[in-house]
Amino acid sequence: MLSKPQLLSIICLFSVPIVQGQREQACDLNCRFEKAYISSEKLKKWPKTCKIVCGNLIFNEKTDLTDYELTVNFWKLEVLKGFLRFQNSSLTSLSFLENLRARQCEGGEFGEFVVSNNPYLTNLGKLQNFANGDTCTWRIVKNPQLDISSYEFLAYRRLENYGNLKDYECVNVRITSESLPYYSNCTSINNGAEEKALKISNMSSSMDLTGFLKLKSVAGGIEISNTDLVDLSFLKNLKIIDMPGGPTDRATIEIQNNPNLKRLGWDSITALPTNGKLLLNITKNHPEFCLTIEEVQKFAKVAPRDGQKVCKFNGFGSFETDCRHVVGDVVIDEDNEKDVWMLENVTYIYGSLIVRDTRELANLDFLSSLRLVMRLTKDEDQIIRVLSNKKLEQVIFPKMKTPPFPIGEGDFIDIDGNSLEIFKVQRECILIRAMTRADVKYNGKGCSKLPRLEKTTKHSTFKFSNVWIFIILLFHVS
Ligand SMILES: *[C@@H]1O[C@H](CO)[C@@H](O)[C@H](O)[C@H]1NC(C)=O
Ligand SMILES: *[C@@H]1O[C@H](CO)[C@@H](O)[C@H](O)[C@H]1NC(C)=O
Ligand SMILES: *[C@@H]1O[C@H](CO)[C@@H](O)[C@H](O)[C@H]1NC(C)=O
Ligand SMILES: *[C@@H]1O[C@H](CO)[C@@H](O)[C@H](O)[C@H]1NC(C)=O
Ligand SMILES: *[C@@H]1O[C@H](CO)[C@@H](O)[C@H](O)[C@H]1NC(C)=O
Repeated sequence: MLSKPQLLSIICLFSVPIVQGQREQACDLNCRFEKAYISSEKLKKWPKTCKIVCGNLIFNEKTDLTDYELTVNFWKLEVLKGFLRFQNSSLTSLSFLENLRARQCEGGEFGEFVVSNNPYLTNLGKLQNFANGDTCTWRIVKNPQLDISSYEFLAYRRLENYGNLKDYECVNVRITSESLPYYSNCTSINNGAEEKALKISNMSSSMDLTGFLKLKSVAGGIEISNTDLVDLSFLKNLKIIDMPGGPTDRATIEIQNNPNLKRLGWDSITALPTNGKLLLNITKNHPEFCLTIEEVQKFAKVAPRDGQKVCKFNGFGSFETDCRHVVGDVVIDEDNEKDVWMLENVTYIYGSLIVRDTRELANLDFLSSLRLVMRLTKDEDQIIRVLSNKKLEQVIFPKMKTPPFPIGEGDFIDIDGNSLEIFKVQRECILIRAMTRADVKYNGKGCSKLPRLEKTTKHSTFKFSNVWIFIILLFHVS
């Protein structure tokens, strides 16, 4: 639900009218350029009288034009229907493109615009002309005489910059094996115009990440992907993750495709975005990846420092009824269903909750104190499962106001294969969904697939609309 505003803004981006504008201006057959790069030889084919040119324009180490040639051949160009790249050239200034106001991204709409390895470049000319509404990532790297920090508009672009004379060093930090040597040990990192403030990818554990020990705060999301790191303790001094921006903005922490990663090791985190403003997406890491209880409590925004007793759950034989926090999977079945009363004061379960194959159990009243179920390890099965019970006729978690953690796409409360009918109408299912803020699947189907109304009375229609109001309020609160 919360991601809807984001979805909308993405749709809006796609409908920015740049593309239409360009389509209106058809490409003249005489205004095409199909050479792989610009040199004095290829310049003969350059349609220098055209305002609109179709084709790519690449300046590289073979570009041997004088300033005069550059100026007289390119001053007319206004729209390039193709991409523009400056790589390994000996250009000193890009001001010869004085009228250019549109070009495309290399590699598609959200691709790149590359200005890299130009040893003498000091002046970006009027590149700002096509900054407005631009979707390209501006990859401006390793131009040793170029002072990026003097182009303020760049701080608000999708920007990847390192290895220039001066960079925006602690904005949109993008770390790969190539850019790492240029990282300048920021104490705080901001996201500029990007969703993610810090992205670390394609790194090997042999690389020196100790510069990140200085990092205390990140404003924006974090992504760590495609590394062979074993833990992320190089971020152990990070205290604050924050999301600047509007009320619908969410900070996303994505930790994906790190096959050796077993621990975060983020010990110092004290401030995280408030409830509902943080999306944690941790997938495809080492099969034994887990969070510590402290980490889970911080991320799930529950810090039950209530001094209550924490115990491991090894069945009811050894269970002490004054435990409030239970660590381990709680499995209720026909062998122990008579003992479930012992759980009546349990508030947190750090493991899965499974109620299955019971014979006599009629309700889940013994979970009346339960506030949250969270799991520390990755598991394919759902965290809360209520399966194949004989006499169970009611499922409700009255105190559970936070979804099971972690929750992501495809996670739900699984109620399946029970002998009695647990939800007769949609609203009973929706009520649990609204209270727990988690998806619910009943016999494999979402709440919306259940019949909407009981066999028609005005009364039940009225109740149904009450439930909707309740849900809408809930989502406003979050
Ligand atoms: C640019 O130059 C660098 C070294 O100066 C070289 O490694 C790279 O291959 C060159 N890139 C292109 C596209 O020619
Ligand atoms: C990842 O790094 C290796 C070398 O460190 C390089 O060969 C490869 O192209 C990089 N992949 C990406 C996607 O950047
Ligand atoms: C960053 O930190 C590393 C390791 O602590 C150090 O070797 C390096 O000199 C630092 N770089 C800067 C720019 O401060
Ligand atoms: C739960 O707490 C109540 C009130 O403190 C107490 O009376 C009851 O015995 C407790 N239940 C268990 C199973 O310990
Ligand atoms: C988590 O990331 C994966 C891969 O980028 C994506 O497919 C999935 O939708 C994300 N999940 C959420 C809840 O955003």
